[in-house]
Amino acid sequence: MQNTKVSETVKYIGVDDTTIDLFESQYVVPEGISYNSYVILDEKVAVMDTVDSRETEGWLQNLEQTLCGRTVDYIVVHHMEPDHSGSLKLLAEKYPEAKIVGNAKTFQFMFQFFGNDYKERQLVVKEGDMLSLGVHTLTFFMAPMVHWPEVMVSYESFEKILFSADAFGKFGALSSDNGEDWLCEGRRYFVNIVGKYGPQVQALLKKTAALEIQIICPLHGPVLNEDLAFYIDKYNTWSSYQPEDKGVTVAYASIHGNTAKAARYIANLLEEKGITYELFDLSRDDVAEAVESAFRYDKMILAAATYDGGIFSSMDYFLSRLKHKNFQNRKIAIVENGTWAPMAGKQMKAALETMKNITLCENTVTLRSAMKEENKGQIAAMIAELLAD
Ligand code: FEO
Repeated sequence: MQNTKVSETVKYIGVDDTTIDLFESQYVVPEGISYNSYVILDEKVAVMDTVDSRETEGWLQNLEQTLCGRTVDYIVVHHMEPDHSGSLKLLAEKYPEAKIVGNAKTFQFMFQFFGNDYKERQLVVKEGDMLSLGVHTLTFFMAPMVHWPEVMVSYESFEKILFSADAFGKFGALSSDNGEDWLCEGRRYFVNIVGKYGPQVQALLKKTAALEIQIICPLHGPVLNEDLAFYIDKYNTWSSYQPEDKGVTVAYASIHGNTAKAARYIANLLEEKGITYELFDLSRDDVAEAVESAFRYDKMILAAATYDGGIFSSMDYFLSRLKHKNFQNRKIAIVENGTWAPMAGKQMKAALETMKNITLCENTVTLRSAMKEENKGQIAAMIAELLAD
């Protein structure tokens, strides 16, 4: 069970979703996902975000238990994406006296989703605005594109809590007890959900650097209340597109297994050299995890078959995901395969050249249908060039 403890007056009322097949209809979440929501109990009561409509019922029970008969004075909307605003309409209608706190864009999106922006109940905030609840005071900071344009975070200065919206979130339900640390799914979450928006995350980190933060309450994943410098440092590395570790991501797209054989041969050579690596079959493994690996390590080897005169589809998709996520600053080597007209290498190179600060190895290996003895020497030279520096 991961952490949901905030404080005596700030309560976690979020819910786990353990039956969702794909988060955002694209990411496998074998351990589920949590939709986090919080209540601040003070002279005034504030509900911080709602949850996906898939889990409204459990969340509502948590809310009512926590309120113990009190009413809601403020509904704070940090993010309008439906995994957080899916129960907002219901909450707004259940507590018609509650003011709804958001920025101008929040209400624009609210109208788009619900056909209602609760005009007479709006409390429109902008950068630096404050809201007193009693001893607790919220200050709002805009965090556009972390992960949507209307995103904002809030800082509660009495207990030094940052309500960080999607930032510092993690895949995995909080009830999941598989012993996995935060980093693995925290990284896969960051890279795939907000990886594209590095500069915007950097801007948010700069704003929050001036705050004394003791607890981070994200919209997914555990409440963070220890060693916050660790998480902030990881976010700084990832959002600046710098490698986190030395190592090699080996990703291959193979049709009949010959390119796969070469990729496994490469992986074995790296193993023998004691080099950290991760091997991905892009047609079968989780591509989001391969993208995560590419962000983690400083080097990558891509091996792909040629198909329809171009790059075999699973590599093509992987490259498009990297491009979408603003992938940059890495050293990469290429292996292509083709039976009559190998074209994958040229096109992989062209795709990588559209990304920032990519160093391509001069040693490119071309396989003709299957790896031969002469290819082994070429592969050794390619690896030597990749690892040199
Ligand atoms: Fe968790 Fe961008 O929604």
